Amino acid sequence: MSALAIDVRGLVKLFGDKTAVQDVDLQVPKGEVWGFLGPNGSGKTTTIRMICGLLHPTEGEGTALGFDIIRQAREIKLRTGYMIQKFSFWQDMTIRENIEFVGRLYRMPNLKETVDRTLADLGLTNRQKQMAGALSGGWKQRMALAAISMHDPELLLLDEPTAGVDPQARRDFWDEIHRLTTEKGVTVFVSTHYMDEAERCDKIVYLAAGRKVTEGTVAEIIARSGLHTYRAEGTGIRRLARQFEAMPGVEDASYFGAALHVSGTDPAALRRAVDRVSEDGRVQWTEVRPSLEDAFIAMTQRAGVDARFAAA
Ligand SMILES: Nc1ncnc2c1ncn2[C@@H]1O[C@H](COP(=O)(O)OP(=O)(O)OP(=O)(O)O)[C@@H](O)[C@H]1O
Ligand SMILES: [Mg+2]
Repeated sequence: MSALAIDVRGLVKLFGDKTAVQDVDLQVPKGEVWGFLGPNGSGKTTTIRMICGLLHPTEGEGTALGFDIIRQAREIKLRTGYMIQKFSFWQDMTIRENIEFVGRLYRMPNLKETVDRTLADLGLTNRQKQMAGALSGGWKQRMALAAISMHDPELLLLDEPTAGVDPQARRDFWDEIHRLTTEKGVTVFVSTHYMDEAERCDKIVYLAAGRKVTEGTVAEIIARSGLHTYRAEGTGIRRLARQFEAMPGVEDASYFGAALHVSGTDPAALRRAVDRVSEDGRVQWTEVRPSLEDAFIAMTQRAGVDARFAAA
């Protein structure tokens, strides 16, 4: 048996003459949690649908849980929990009725016991009689996770499972994900736009315009971006960002709450820029770890420049 839960190579998907996914390789080891990031329309959902056999790639091949994504979609579906983007339920059924319904779709044996266990596992027993439509976003997502994990899948493909869910509920949801991987060895491949969620993953894959821009741990990606960042806080920093515009050595200057982050790839030039702005001594700069978001933006811009050169 392969040690990889997902092993796909050269995936391409065209819709008409539009390229949604271009030459994507993914090798996700069993038992790991991988985050899938990228701007709207970058091809995340399309890639996930190809991995679980719902959509045939235009080119490329591969396996999920050792089964061929083109010829063995049924085998993959039996062993995978796929939470589609904007997962929805029968609003006027209770939590229990919804889970039972899904259980019947999966033809689960011992339905009553399986539903009892699934509800208990996800802390839903006390709420099982509540109407799904009346639940808050966080509880809806927990119910969705119950529904897609009741058949004990080995692989979870989650497409933006926490979009629009508040921070506490997102944290609870992630605790659940980590419990499933620790206790049951489940592999999780999860798309998200939240950087704090990306930081909870073993590895991250970042797509832009259908192509894989980078992949690795948070530390690897930040190191590979080659960025250096200085941060200043306090009342004196408002309007400072403008001074950095077009300054040599500065690629980006943006506010994060009450702090200003200034980034660039040439450490000496960046330091000179920061020193110039703090000449009057009113602003104190400290070097900080660049944010993941900054790393993605810098690498995407660079990939875009490369692509233009390649086309010329
Ligand atoms: N069935 C389809 N027919 C035609 N074009 C499609 C289809 N599905 C997706 N696309 C296009 O493929 C590209 C990739 O879309 P996809 O939904 O995979 O992106 P995404 O990364 O999931 O975006 P988001 O973050 O908004 O969910 C987009 O340009 C989209 O419009
Ligand atoms: Mg999507």
